[in-house]
Amino acid sequence: MSAALPAAAFDQLFLAARTHNAFTGPIEDADLQAIFDLMKWGPTGANSCPVRFRFIRSPEAKETLRATLQPGNVEKTMAAPVTALVGYDLEFYEHLPRLFPHADAKSWFVGNEPSIRHNAFLNASLQAGYFIVAARSLGFDCGPMSGFDSEKADQAFFAGTRVKSFMLVNLGHGDPAKLYPRGPRFDFSEVCAVL
Ligand SMILES: Cc1cc2nc3c(=O)[nH]c(=O)nc-3n(C[C@H](O)[C@H](O)[C@H](O)COP(=O)(O)O)c2cc1C
Repeated sequence: MSAALPAAAFDQLFLAARTHNAFTGPIEDADLQAIFDLMKWGPTGANSCPVRFRFIRSPEAKETLRATLQPGNVEKTMAAPVTALVGYDLEFYEHLPRLFPHADAKSWFVGNEPSIRHNAFLNASLQAGYFIVAARSLGFDCGPMSGFDSEKADQAFFAGTRVKSFMLVNLGHGDPAKLYPRGPRFDFSEVCAVL
């Protein structure tokens, strides 16, 4: 059994952590790998690990991304040091003999398109959440967004695959001066029940 983390960790991961709109660097390629190498240990159904990333850093790739962005997301995304394009792989089950070798998990999905889509979106969304917490734990800030044209992004960044993008995450060191006021959250008693 593990002990609780120090209270400062709660601040860094949740209580003081914010969704940022303006970022500075540096965030190196090695940092992106370090974030991934933490994120990947979060649990997924049948260890299916369906998330896929494209880290968009170069001016050329950023210009391609620009055409997919909703207007309110353009300026901050173009200015961010790196933007992660996050997708789910509809062919995740092809890797299950390697990732989940103690059962024939591939056969649970082959030919079952609704189950493939459900598993891919559910578990890649979980992994996107782990990604945000991993980035925060390494001292970086995130700006998650779903305001973009995912079909255009797929054509540009996931061509030739069955990966479907669903989220963008701007990454770097956030500028606290550019934050909106913190939105409230539900209280436990409003949305939970212990039965
Ligand atoms: C899946 C997802 C999609 C979001 N899409 C957008 C977006 O398109 N544009 C935007 O400005 N903010 C977007 N946000 C930011 C949310 O509004 C923000 O995370 C939320 O208000 C909580 O802010 P806080 O972390 O500072 O408390 C998105 C966040 C998430 C997690």
